[in-house]
Amino acid sequence: MSQEIFDKAKQIQATIKAETPKTLEELEQFRIKYLGTKGLLKGLFGEIRHVDKERKREFGLLANAIKQETEAAFQQLKDNFEAAEGTESISLDLTAPAEPNALGSRHPISIVMNQIVEIFQRIGFVVAEDREIEDDWHNFTAMNTPADHPARDMQDTFYVMNDPGMLLRTHTSSVQSRVMTKTQPPIRIIAPGRVYRNETISARSHCQFHQVEGLYVAENVSFADMKQTLYYFAKELYGATKIRLRPSYFPFTEPSAEMDVYWGLKDEIDYKITKGTGWLEVLGCGMVDPAVLENCGIDSKKYTGFAFGMGIERQAMLKYRISDIRYLFENDKRFLNQFSAAL
Ligand code: PHE
Repeated sequence: MSQEIFDKAKQIQATIKAETPKTLEELEQFRIKYLGTKGLLKGLFGEIRHVDKERKREFGLLANAIKQETEAAFQQLKDNFEAAEGTESISLDLTAPAEPNALGSRHPISIVMNQIVEIFQRIGFVVAEDREIEDDWHNFTAMNTPADHPARDMQDTFYVMNDPGMLLRTHTSSVQSRVMTKTQPPIRIIAPGRVYRNETISARSHCQFHQVEGLYVAENVSFADMKQTLYYFAKELYGATKIRLRPSYFPFTEPSAEMDVYWGLKDEIDYKITKGTGWLEVLGCGMVDPAVLENCGIDSKKYTGFAFGMGIERQAMLKYRISDIRYLFENDKRFLNQFSAAL
């Protein structure tokens, strides 16, 4: 009797080995048939009752071995199917267009700043950058604006708390004194950067903005050199055909001027932004005051120079017809995405 049961077990074992389920469905049938609660192996274990006492242990071992083999085979097949399924589910269409890879866009301030810097680099100016948290001396005193000078009121200054000798620079002119105290002429720099003034935030003004400063100091630098340089710049950036220099005042330049470019009066907006004159004010400039050169340790008898400074926001607003300066600082993607096609 026992031997028959052993033979039956061996036979089941052989049948299981010969099974080759080809799909997940067939594998499930395989599982139910052999490993299920009503499966053949369950039945086989039940047979142990009929096995002679002295062979029960042997049968138990055999039945367990078969069960383990079958379970291992099932797991192996299942893993194979699942792995294969994973690869199949990525249908590979080589003709499909690639996922769009959204590029960021440059900020309009950077676009305009880079353009301005690049125009001056072409004629030999080199970029100079310096700190935004500046000392009083470099921002004001060296620039011929000592304490009590009324011109300090032109720019409302943010001072560093508990240290009135330190401030947030109010203009990039502080880079002039930084460079001139370190370097002897010839000096030809262009200095882009952020500046701060304690102003009420409105559509037209902000407490932080950007400027680009230019400085040229060498022997025999004349007002005519400045005019020609700025005319070249106006042509390059605005395509302007005409510029004009109006007398102005800055503590650190003498004489000082403000430059206008001819914008034209073609439509209503032109009337609005030029206040009906056709001229647009774009920068302040002048011959470096000899006192500034001396403050910085440069011989004012040997050297002369010119300097200019302009706000970037205004240029960007004109160029892109942006109606409110605050858009430039809000980082609203709906605004910024509009510049993704620009350089
Ligand atoms: N620093 C001046 C301003 O902020 C601009 C300027 C720079 C004027 C250099 C003359 C020379 O308004």
